[in-house]
Amino acid sequence: MGINTITYDAVVVGGGGAGLRAALALSDAGLKVAVISKVFPTRSHTVAAQGGIAASLGNAGEDNWLWHMYDTIKGSDYLGDQDAIEYMCKNAAAAVYELEHFGMPFDRMADGKIYQRPFGGMTQHFGKSTISRTCAAADRTGHAMLHTLYQRNIANNTHFLIEWFALDLIRDEEGDVVGLIVMEIETGEISVLNSKTTMLATGGAGRIFQASTNAFINTGDGLGMVSRANIPLEDMEFWQFHPTGVAGAGVLISEGVRGEGGYLVNSLGERFMQRYAPNAMDLASRDVVSRAIATEIKEGRGVGKNADTVLLKLDHLGEDVIKSKLPGIREIAKNFANIDPIKDPIPVVPTCHYMMGGIPTNIHGQVVDNAKNRVVNGLYAVGECACVSVHGANRLGSNSLLDLMVFGRAAGDHMADYSKKLTHAKPLPVNHAEQTMTRLFRLENGSGESVSEVGDSMRRIMQAHCGVFRFPELLDKGAKEIKELAIRENHIRIKDKNKIFNTARIEALELDNLIEVAKATMLSAQAREESRGAHCREDFPERNDETWLKHTLFYSEGNVLDYKPVVTKPLSVETFPLKARVY
Ligand code: FUM
Repeated sequence: MGINTITYDAVVVGGGGAGLRAALALSDAGLKVAVISKVFPTRSHTVAAQGGIAASLGNAGEDNWLWHMYDTIKGSDYLGDQDAIEYMCKNAAAAVYELEHFGMPFDRMADGKIYQRPFGGMTQHFGKSTISRTCAAADRTGHAMLHTLYQRNIANNTHFLIEWFALDLIRDEEGDVVGLIVMEIETGEISVLNSKTTMLATGGAGRIFQASTNAFINTGDGLGMVSRANIPLEDMEFWQFHPTGVAGAGVLISEGVRGEGGYLVNSLGERFMQRYAPNAMDLASRDVVSRAIATEIKEGRGVGKNADTVLLKLDHLGEDVIKSKLPGIREIAKNFANIDPIKDPIPVVPTCHYMMGGIPTNIHGQVVDNAKNRVVNGLYAVGECACVSVHGANRLGSNSLLDLMVFGRAAGDHMADYSKKLTHAKPLPVNHAEQTMTRLFRLENGSGESVSEVGDSMRRIMQAHCGVFRFPELLDKGAKEIKELAIRENHIRIKDKNKIFNTARIEALELDNLIEVAKATMLSAQAREESRGAHCREDFPERNDETWLKHTLFYSEGNVLDYKPVVTKPLSVETFPLKARVY
């Protein structure tokens, strides 16, 4: 019996903010669109976003999109593409007002306008030390956004395939993407979705590290799929370590805490950020603050039994501010650190939070697969899984929710136009499921290590060899170990062979994806011989624009590296020239 095939105009993989915004554009255009998600959409990781969404509304003082653009380029350590950054910052205000009109419950200023707070790296203009650009719904902005978008999609009759897992892309002889092979988790049945267009909006992959603010679902599924389809991953060496994960637990404590006036102290009670970023202090960009914390700990000024954390102090903000503006982080601190921040500081450490790299795309969200930006017809990617690239070597806090909204819409619109031009989905090639079936067969019959053994090794290697500071010997050793591990991963075994809701099988398939991400990260980091943004090498401490102002492309097959130029020409304004980056 053949595999069940379902046809759509458009399929979106992932039910987070980017996927749901794109699905709205597609359903608005009258297309038959499905969103496939391995979890219930409102459990997607966007729900965990806390501090807010950036836009130069100017509700709390003067601001404009060009300042936002400058801050984003500077924050990216000049690796971000200036055309994409212009597009995002120029469209930010419209994206926020659109959310407001969709019904998103933003907090309000006294005059009724949307509440905005300062965030890191949103720097000084005209002598101001901070700028309030981050629009917030308390410290649960992602939660409010995701529910708003889900409800709009329900109203639009978007079709949801909930608890379905995407396995592989289907490319035809011309290299075009014509659909996906998927598994319904409840039954274990395999189906094919044959569609005119396919979008990957599968989010991040922070579970390659031991200490991560990311949900367990963040396993880089879209990145694994493109890697197996011979499409490269871009700039994978750039991982953001959020300065304030709860020590020992990894759960996020929003930068909004520092935006509201909280600050970091070491074991001597010093506000140590004055040594590292005398102007922006605790609101320097995240790479700078994370390195400062790691240095304080390394130099013996850490706090706690093992002197391996620092403290985030916010009791001085007062009970009212904490309860109204930061209720979520108070709950987190109580549950995960046994601390009430109204009275005591929270022990925090830099924790893996965000992947700046991802699936290469142009500003329409179309996936491109070589250094000349050749378009893969029929395939789109948006959100954290994509690299458009607006974040370059370091993302500014609250630019992530913005990226989801602006490029979710842009890609959804482009995909709708493209789909409408086709009368039907291109036919499936012969043997389109063969590779996937071989992978599933291999898993059923594997006799190697368990999923947890290989997964634990991967997380240990990544944490020890590719963290906030990177050392040549550790990178070399890490690259060797991760390549060996990728081979061992090919033989993993699962004990439970049941078809019905077999989460062990899903975890094994997720590990296939994680290992692709880990390998791309380590080998791209080993090759980049400079320090830029979040990639900080002990042996090459300076940024080197002459040699390294370029994007990395990593192809999994054969572990091949290639490079492409950074776009330094914006769409309509003048280039922001290279400068030393200080805060
Ligand atoms: O700190 C935060 O609230 C995180 C925001 C972000 O990563 O954009």
